[in-house]
Amino acid sequence: MARIKQPYIPPSEITAEAVWQSRRTWLRRAGAGALTLGAGGMLGGSLLSGGAAMSAQPSGRLAGTPNPDYWLKNKLTSEEDVSGYNNFYEFGTGKTDPVGYAHKMRTRPWVVEIEGEVEKPRSFDIDDLLKLASIEERVYRLRCVEAWSMVIPWSGYSLSTLLKQVQPTSKAKYVQFVSATQPDNMPGLRSRIIDWPYVEALRMDEAMHPLVMLVFGVYGKLLPNQNGAPMRVAVPWKYGFKSGKSIVKIRLLENLPETSWVKIAPNEYGFYANVNPAVPHPRWSQATERRIGDGFFAPRVDTLMYNGYGEQVASLYAGMDLRRNY
Ligand code: MTE
Repeated sequence: MARIKQPYIPPSEITAEAVWQSRRTWLRRAGAGALTLGAGGMLGGSLLSGGAAMSAQPSGRLAGTPNPDYWLKNKLTSEEDVSGYNNFYEFGTGKTDPVGYAHKMRTRPWVVEIEGEVEKPRSFDIDDLLKLASIEERVYRLRCVEAWSMVIPWSGYSLSTLLKQVQPTSKAKYVQFVSATQPDNMPGLRSRIIDWPYVEALRMDEAMHPLVMLVFGVYGKLLPNQNGAPMRVAVPWKYGFKSGKSIVKIRLLENLPETSWVKIAPNEYGFYANVNPAVPHPRWSQATERRIGDGFFAPRVDTLMYNGYGEQVASLYAGMDLRRNY
C-alpha cells in the first residue's frame, strides 16, 4: 500500500537478503547525503543543483536518496523479473521480446524536446536532465491493465520539476508523452498494432502531482533499455500503459490529445485508466491481480482503488463518474 508520510522502512526489512546485500553500499552512500551516479563515465565530478556531490562509476549505477514519502512496504519484485518480463511493443508483443531485442536501441545521444503551451520551449540533453534535480529512490507499485503487478524501486524525480522549468502557459491543459521510434532497432515497429510512435498523456493537474515520476534508473542502476531507457514516466495510480517509455518529446496542449491505447480500442482503454477494481475491463475482471514472481499458483491479491494511492490522488477526480471516465 502506498503511504505518504509513513515511517521510513529500511530496505533491509522489506527486501530479500541477497538483493539487500548487493544494494548496501550505494544505499549507505545515499543515506550519507551523497549521490552516486554513473552514466558510463559521462557525469563525473559535477555538482547537482541541490549541492550533493556526484561521482561517476563505469558500472552505470544510479543511486538515489531513498524518499520515505514514496516508499511501499511490500516485498520488491526481483530485479530479474523487473527487467525480464516487460511490455514494450516497439520490440514485440511477447513479454520476453523487450529483453531479447532492446539492447539494439541507441540511448546516446538522446534529446528530449518540450514544446507547445509553454513560455520557454526547449530541448534537454538526457545527461542534463539527469542533473536537473536530486535523484530520489522511490518504491512504487506498477499495476498492468493485464491484471499483474510488480513492486519496483525507481530512481528519478517528479515530472513537475521539469515542467516548471519550461513554464506552462495558462492554456496548457494536457501533457502528452511521445516515445522514440528507431525503425532499424525496433522490430516491433513493423507491426501495425499501434500507430507509432507510442503516445500517452495526462491531464495537467495529474502531471503536476508529485507522485508522477521521471524515471532514469531502477534497482540502483541506469534503466535497462527494456524498461524504457534512458527516461520514462511512472504514474503509479494508473494502469501501466499510461507510463510511456523512452520519451523523446513532451508536448503541453490545450486540447485532449490522442493516446495509443484509446485509439486502438476506445471501449476497452480509457484516457484516465485509473486503477479501479470496481470497473472491469470488457474482457476480464480488474478486481484482483497476480504478483509477478509469486508463482502462477500463488493466491491472487485484491486490487486496490487507485492502486493504493487514493489518499494522495482521489481529490483529482472529485465529482467525476469513474465508470464513464475509465
Ligand atoms: N511505452 C512504450 N513506448 N511502449 C509500450 O509498449 N507499454 C506500457 C508501458 N509503457 C509500453 C510503454 C505497458 S502496457 C506497461 S504495463 C508498462 O510500460 C510496463 O513497464 P515495464 O516493462 O517496465 O514493467
